[in-house]
Amino acid sequence: MDYLPINFNFISPKLIFGRGKIGEIGKEVLSLLKGKDFKNPKVFLVTGKSSLKKSGYLNKINMILTKNGISSYLYDKAVKEPTTEIINHGKEYAIEKNCQLVIGIGGGSVMDTAKAIAGLVSNGGVVEEYHAEKEFIKPPLPFILIPTTSGTGSEITNNAVIKDEKRGIKKSIRGLLASTALLDPELTIPLPKKYTAYSGADALVQAIESLVSKSANFISDFFAREAIKLLADTLPKVIKDLENIVLRERMMLGSLFDALSFSNSKLGAVHGFAHPIGIKFDIPHGLICGMLLPYVMEYNLEVDATVKKYAWIAQTLSDQDIIIGYGSCPKKLPKNNINKARWAIEKLKDIFNYIGIPLRLSEAGIKESDLDDIVQDTKGSSLDNNPRDTTKDSLRQILQNAL
Ligand SMILES: [Fe+2]
Repeated sequence: MDYLPINFNFISPKLIFGRGKIGEIGKEVLSLLKGKDFKNPKVFLVTGKSSLKKSGYLNKINMILTKNGISSYLYDKAVKEPTTEIINHGKEYAIEKNCQLVIGIGGGSVMDTAKAIAGLVSNGGVVEEYHAEKEFIKPPLPFILIPTTSGTGSEITNNAVIKDEKRGIKKSIRGLLASTALLDPELTIPLPKKYTAYSGADALVQAIESLVSKSANFISDFFAREAIKLLADTLPKVIKDLENIVLRERMMLGSLFDALSFSNSKLGAVHGFAHPIGIKFDIPHGLICGMLLPYVMEYNLEVDATVKKYAWIAQTLSDQDIIIGYGSCPKKLPKNNINKARWAIEKLKDIFNYIGIPLRLSEAGIKESDLDDIVQDTKGSSLDNNPRDTTKDSLRQILQNAL
């Protein structure tokens, strides 16, 4: 048995998790502003356009804040892909209203918007400067992130992905770790089936990529395995039973564990591809990731340590017995690791197929003539941490196999 030295740095916001925990938002704001001598606390509330209003949670949150003597200023302009314009404008508004804390409630894009505004308010300037490698010198305004989906992990990571429409680029700005991530599974109940499937697929893919990442360490490995156990078992169930709080809770815990894992390791080639595909095509991120995972896993089968981990996934899926009737994968788990790894790939295809994710890029409108451009723009730390090194040719071949 190999005994490797155990060392890691572990980074995470303060975590509050549980049904109904949204009721603690006022208390948490006051605790974060404690000692700052603010007589009239003011928060900047970042949301999307309508879903929080429709679900009634916006009213509820405002009532809780008012009851705690906190004024709130709503910025409901966060969109699917946060733009420099929306963030620069939000920063000006937050400064004008003299807000001392930012709350972001919604999916990954809303939380990314809130993060970036919190960073810009205390550091000044506009997003474009930070896109050009300027770094945040001061800490951001305190900020609380509250996800309404289970999947992106944005409430845990320290970066925000922002699009610059004028220059046609999409880039991360970093150094934006939330003060608190508040995860209340009741908030995910209104999430429609399609988005439950896509965000859940994203979380599962991230957990698998993190497990085998070159930067995986003892603690990221632990969280990745727990995330895979929770997500693979629950995802096919929750899309048939969207209002089941126990399943929503398990999805949210799985997504949290996934984020704690990959934010402390790195991802892999699926996420390397997902970035340029997301810029060029209007395909949801989770769907791209689910479609590509089996093909990247096949490519990674040359690496022994990765095969061992994929075999562990196979054993886990087999033990959970979650697969009967989903697809064509044989029920019986093969004996040796390489065959187990192949079995895991087939089983994951079954699960993705079952939740409505196509197995071919062509089904999402990607054509052979698009592949060279995608390969050209596939780069970055995710790709660098894929367990098997890639070349332009091997990347092209993975996409060709997935077409
Ligand atoms: Fe992702």
